[in-house]
Amino acid sequence: MLNQTVIEEIKTRNNIEDVISSYVRLSRAGKDLKGLCPFHSEKTPSFHVHPAEGYFHCFGCGAGGDVITFVMRAENLAYPEALEYLAKRAGINLPLDYKDGRKGEVDRSTVTAMNKEAARYFHACLMDEKTPAGLEYLQKKRGFSTALIRRFGLGYAPGGWGLCNHLKAKGYSYEQMMAANLVLKSTKRENSYYDVFRDRVMVPIFDPAGNVVAFGGRLLGDGQPKYLNSSETAAFRKSKTLFALNFAKDYCAERMILCEGYMDAMALHGAGFPSAVATLGTAITSEHARVMSRYTKSVVICYDTDEAGQKAADKAFRVLSEVGLEARILRVEGAKDPDEFIKKSGAPAFARLIDKSKSRFEFKLEKIFSKYDVATVDGKIKALDEISALIAEFPSSVERELYIAAVSKKLEVAQKALTEDVERILRKNRSRQKRAYSEEILRKTEGYADRVNPQVMGNVASARAEEAILGILLLREDVAQRALKEGLLYPELFVTDFNKRVFSRIAELTAEGQTPDTGLLGAYFTPEEMGRIVEMRLARSTLTDNGYAVLTTCVDRLKNGEKKSENSPEDIRAIIEKKRKGR
Ligand code: UTP
Ligand code: MN
Repeated sequence: MLNQTVIEEIKTRNNIEDVISSYVRLSRAGKDLKGLCPFHSEKTPSFHVHPAEGYFHCFGCGAGGDVITFVMRAENLAYPEALEYLAKRAGINLPLDYKDGRKGEVDRSTVTAMNKEAARYFHACLMDEKTPAGLEYLQKKRGFSTALIRRFGLGYAPGGWGLCNHLKAKGYSYEQMMAANLVLKSTKRENSYYDVFRDRVMVPIFDPAGNVVAFGGRLLGDGQPKYLNSSETAAFRKSKTLFALNFAKDYCAERMILCEGYMDAMALHGAGFPSAVATLGTAITSEHARVMSRYTKSVVICYDTDEAGQKAADKAFRVLSEVGLEARILRVEGAKDPDEFIKKSGAPAFARLIDKSKSRFEFKLEKIFSKYDVATVDGKIKALDEISALIAEFPSSVERELYIAAVSKKLEVAQKALTEDVERILRKNRSRQKRAYSEEILRKTEGYADRVNPQVMGNVASARAEEAILGILLLREDVAQRALKEGLLYPELFVTDFNKRVFSRIAELTAEGQTPDTGLLGAYFTPEEMGRIVEMRLARSTLTDNGYAVLTTCVDRLKNGEKKSENSPEDIRAIIEKKRKGR
């Protein structure tokens, strides 16, 4: 493991404010900085950076930690890789043996290196005259040019043991191949392995930096499953990966095109629309949307014309606007998806579709109009009901006013009447939201839905005392040393497992003569757990009294709580019920 000096150097040479600023727009708030949290969707900033202390913390989702934790979460890296990343950023050379603490794990860089080898192998098979099926499919069935095939590094997986043997010859073990999800172990024969992808056209999936993080494979004919995608590995998270972003990132500052299938995205690139990307066999998530917002201002949703595609478009509108992206929808005409449309109608026709793309309001309005006959009174009333609800969904009052004006003119109703309808719905929505919000807060404060430390529920008082102790230990090295030396604190004192684990680590590090700083703790806890650890420390740093005496009080509280069982889940439900009624 790296020693404290190197970690400290990495932390000092990577100023937390600089690092986070390249992901989040920060503004001053006193001696701190704040901005919109990159780890959950929000409209008002609850993400704080404390440059003096070197921490970030989000009051909304509980994310928190130091610059290393931030990079772990933002770049989806494990602890040693985050250190590597930051060391590289600051031009620090790491000692070669620093990964020793994590032996046996197959890390991200091993997976991407193996994937790169696999992509080379698949591409060679595609071009090999002995296995012509893949190339024939891509050229004849999909109409892909050789240039496009090269650009995307497409390949063919013959199956059998081809890839297995190739990677073995390159020095990889079967364990590593299985961790990259390229190879499976036979259930029939001992010590026998075979390729995951067999007789499929192979599409490498790159991260924005150009590493091969996964593969998608399509069958050449009919059959199931039509597409097979790598499952998640140390290098691949489906919910935040966008296919073709590595190519699109240089062309999408103004506008990005979002498709359902990666064949669609490639067809668009081939037709001269290099800003196209696709999700990978999942609906768009808010993580996807946050990634997109780092590269573009506006997204054109270009989904399949079937019902599933149109439903998915609705969700896409929502998650895109939640991160502040402008979203429009494009409807392909006379084809089931953009790929087919380009083949039938050509690129200029697609460019015209982009120009005709619609905002969410226009898109939904059109749907309502197609559902009702607004020439009849009954139809008009039903349509107006849905339209009022639709307008009420828009947070901007200016936008609402514009829509109300447009609709009342079109349907020949008084603007005032429509405004009143919308206002009524807004009031109803607001009170519902308020209720949901206060329930959420109550649940949180009482320890419900506490994923980091589920035992807080049922041990509220002890858990709070434990958190105070840990906060002080993290904040005051002198107090920590004395308390540990004098035996005031020991693991059995702790009631909740998570806090016990944190304490044990702190005690160990202190015994080794190291400062239990978050940089060192990061190696043993997940980013989510680090968020909690930083929270405990920050909670104490706002208080003036963090001395030895406070520790002893907390220890007494823990000892007295030891025997008698604390609040049961039923008790807590009763507390919440009482609080709610008291409001
Ligand atoms: P589609 O079936 O709409 O893709 O699936 P497509 O491009 O129109 O397929 P072709 O034209 O017949 O080749 C869209 C996406 O859904 C995922 C894939 O990521 C695909 O790109 N998918 C689909 C799967 O993961 N597995 C499947 O079996 C099917
Ligand atoms: Mn298709």
